[in-house]
Amino acid sequence: MDNTIQIGLLGFGTVGGGVAQIFQSNAAMMARKIGADLHIKKILVRDLKKPRAVQCDAQLTTDPAEILNDPDIQIVVELLGGEEPAHSLMLAALQNGKHVVTANKDVIARHGRELFAAAEQHGVNLLFEASVGGGIPIIRPLKRCLAANRVTEVMGIVNGTTNYMLDKMTTDGVDFATVLAEAQAKGFAEADPTADVGGWDAARKIAILASIAFGTRVSLEDVSVEGITRIEPEDIDYGRELDYVVKLLAIAQENEKGVNARVHPAFIHKSHPLAAVRDVFNAIFVRGDAVGDAMFYGRGAGAMPTASAVCADVMEAAREICFHSSSHILCTCFEEKRIFSIAETESPYYIRLLAEDRPGVMAAIAGAFGSQQVSLNSVIQKRRVGNRAEIVLITYKVNDADLQLAVQTLAGLSVVNKVSTVIRVVGDDAE
Ligand code: NAP
Ligand code: HSE
Repeated sequence: MDNTIQIGLLGFGTVGGGVAQIFQSNAAMMARKIGADLHIKKILVRDLKKPRAVQCDAQLTTDPAEILNDPDIQIVVELLGGEEPAHSLMLAALQNGKHVVTANKDVIARHGRELFAAAEQHGVNLLFEASVGGGIPIIRPLKRCLAANRVTEVMGIVNGTTNYMLDKMTTDGVDFATVLAEAQAKGFAEADPTADVGGWDAARKIAILASIAFGTRVSLEDVSVEGITRIEPEDIDYGRELDYVVKLLAIAQENEKGVNARVHPAFIHKSHPLAAVRDVFNAIFVRGDAVGDAMFYGRGAGAMPTASAVCADVMEAAREICFHSSSHILCTCFEEKRIFSIAETESPYYIRLLAEDRPGVMAAIAGAFGSQQVSLNSVIQKRRVGNRAEIVLITYKVNDADLQLAVQTLAGLSVVNKVSTVIRVVGDDAE
């Protein structure tokens, strides 16, 4: 009897190429682990003539029906990216009784509920480990290994492109445009990199993690998002003087107010473990009531790390087929918890502004903060810019809504020329 499980790939780009490469180099070992051979039978692409970095005996096609309607294909691996046609093709594959593996956070964050329901109805699995954290195992650990915990916080660096960019800007002083082009050339960045630098890629990932961690549906619309486009070299330099490193953080918390999820740049102290996460690496902290703090670290993007997670999901689906089991866990959003906004969150803040350089200015600035009950921890006059003074302020922990009002009051002062940057300070030392 032929003991081969046939697979259809949708997409043969950066990650699809990595998957084909792992199948070539590790096929025998993978077969031993699951008790069956795995074979990529067909691959959907846009352009049949495009040269491919990885050679593969699969039949290339531009017609998705060739894969979706092939009765031999039991596992469909979606690696197209974007919302459509990826979403419709995944839905059709599930409806045709095929297990689906995907690296697509756009589709899982937006259409997860519908796809899980379709998988349930048709008795197949939907696996998406590679959709968050590239090669880092985080979805299955949250769903299975930490299942006995009440999780209160998930915080991390979940976008490789922006971590790579901020790291290069911090350590080598490389400018924004140059370092973005480097990330694109290395295959980390999305086809449209505004999703990376604007924080939307990280927002989709934290929506997925928060939904699993807190057992309630957190959708993209629930996540407050700010990217890295407003970070200037001056902020990186002043941060360094204050022993801070700037990172794009994705944070989800549950407390007595409900659940909050947000993405924003943040200063973290240089001794914080996240400050040491460099290059394209990602790291995710999970705080549970039983486990305490656990951290997951690894390469968050790139062909081979992402393909590592995709191939493990394929093997998981293959095991179900081989052992005729259905031990999979689909949707875990059993509750409907209140989502609270970023305005209700608290942290210290760093503020950089330009003001008139004359007596009485500091008192006016302090008054603007005092009027909103915002206490200042430190005020530093950094340098003269023309006939103006650049001033950096650090507040004590403050409610976000109060801070925003104080910044508005500040911007309205005649002695303040410009509020250049506002960055949250995050970490245990900042609480
Ligand atoms: P990519 O390099 O742009 O590859 C996309 C592939 O899909 C290409 O082979 C392309 O065909 C094919 N394709 C796209 N639209 C198609 C359509 N309408 N019909 C037929 N074929 C189509 O993308 P990628 O970087 O591999 O990313 C794939 C997925 O993995 C995305 O969801 C991404 O977010 C996720 N992901 C990527 C990374 C990473 O580091 N790159 C990490 C984690 C997750 P052609 O080759 O013919 O153009
Ligand atoms: N563009 C994403 C990143 C790829 O840079 O992290 C992984 O999802």
